[in-house]
Amino acid sequence: MKIIVLNGSPKGIESATMQYILYIQKKFPQHELKILNIAQQIKKLENNEEKFKEIIDDVKNSDGVIWGFPLYVMLVPSQYKRFIELITERKKEVAFTDKYTAVLATSIHFYDHTAINYMNGICDDFEMKFVGSFSADMFDLMFPKKREQLIIFAENLFNAIENNLPTTRKNLPLVKQAFEYVPGNLGKEVARIDTNGKKVLIITDSVDRSTNLGKMIQQFQSCFSTEIEIINIYDLEIKGGCLGCIQCGYDNICVYKDKDEFTEFWSVKLESADILVFAGNIVDRYLSSRWKMVFDRSFFNGHIPTLRERQFGFLISGPLGQIANLRQIIESIAELQDSNLVDIITDEYADSKTIDSLIYNFGKNLIIFSNSGYKKPQTFLAVGGNKIFRDAVYGRMRFVFQADHRHYEEHGFYDFPHNDKYAKKMNEKFIPLTQNEKFRKVFYSVLKTEMIKPLKSVVDNPDK
Ligand SMILES: Cc1cc2nc3c(=O)[nH]c(=O)nc-3n(C[C@H](O)[C@H](O)[C@H](O)COP(=O)(O)O)c2cc1C
Repeated sequence: MKIIVLNGSPKGIESATMQYILYIQKKFPQHELKILNIAQQIKKLENNEEKFKEIIDDVKNSDGVIWGFPLYVMLVPSQYKRFIELITERKKEVAFTDKYTAVLATSIHFYDHTAINYMNGICDDFEMKFVGSFSADMFDLMFPKKREQLIIFAENLFNAIENNLPTTRKNLPLVKQAFEYVPGNLGKEVARIDTNGKKVLIITDSVDRSTNLGKMIQQFQSCFSTEIEIINIYDLEIKGGCLGCIQCGYDNICVYKDKDEFTEFWSVKLESADILVFAGNIVDRYLSSRWKMVFDRSFFNGHIPTLRERQFGFLISGPLGQIANLRQIIESIAELQDSNLVDIITDEYADSKTIDSLIYNFGKNLIIFSNSGYKKPQTFLAVGGNKIFRDAVYGRMRFVFQADHRHYEEHGFYDFPHNDKYAKKMNEKFIPLTQNEKFRKVFYSVLKTEMIKPLKSVVDNPDK
């Protein structure tokens, strides 16, 4: 059997993920696993149609496809996403249709689920037969029990292909509506929003005023009494996607620092804004690969939230309501930056007046929340995610991400081991006492009222 492995690591064969593939190859010598370094040669694939065609022909002539990639900022690396876009732009989906497929990703399990969901969606859109996914921790391969699971995963894929087994589909095709947004005139009676000295910055991948997104941006700008700055990420000189070299781990300096404009864009432009409005078109089941490149390249900041305490907002054109995975990614980006996501306005309402009023209200809320310093409490998205970072930076990743470690130490990110004196006292007292059955009965009968006592005392003395 011939399996094509589409390698999404910008590091090419020197990739952790590819070691998993090479291991499978050793265990199943009867099958051929042909690795194609997609992410590493994305520029070539983009500029040289013949090279791209060779990849497509390999896929066409294969019995199955493995999408193998490292997690990059909750998704696949931007270079890999660009490849996925090229398949659609060049109308080559048919090479993938009806092929058996599986996903193999490595990561530290930080938002690996969103990347897997994304790839599952892409495979469904290409009408592939999705057998399953295997999301390994980067170093799982070192453990015999984990290797056993990897072998079962591979066996299952080969078995599905050999026996032409049926596969389930997770995602319905996206339905795109043909709606043209026609922004209304705000009129003299509508007060233009005063930024109150707050710096509002729009970052977008399209300013084309013939598109819904371009018009939504323009409408947003016209709601304010002063000019709102806009940066088109296509105007920035960005040499390429993140290379995964991790040299930034030592001091947050990207190898591209003096070679392109990205570091300055992030550290000077973005970081000096109080309010950030991200605008983009949905491309497949995410934003564009250009946007992905921006998020990947921001990795030079390591795991440090450099855009803390800001107000975030999104203007999106496309079927966001059908892509819960993307909504979750957007919400997570804001939460993990320790910032407040005010709203996401899309053109899905297919009613220009509604969109006008939402955009105006959105502009107002951005300023109101910025003035009051409001920040929604973080949910599991950031509370859980940050614990993964905390453990990784404190432990096995510290020698690589030394800049993160210094920042985490200085800013109280290491909230463990827990030193909650009250909790310690209660545990020491009640754990031995509850061994006694009689005491336990009484204990659980008063627990409800006792638990809310400290909260109640706040409610009873609201001005204290
Ligand atoms: C730019 C960048 C972004 C990353 N983002 C994530 C992430 O969102 N979640 C995660 O668990 N790991 C993340 N990682 C870690 C890699 O996924 C992990 O090290 C992977 O095993 C590398 O595989 P490779 O050697 O095949 O490229 C990131 C690494 C880099 C360089």
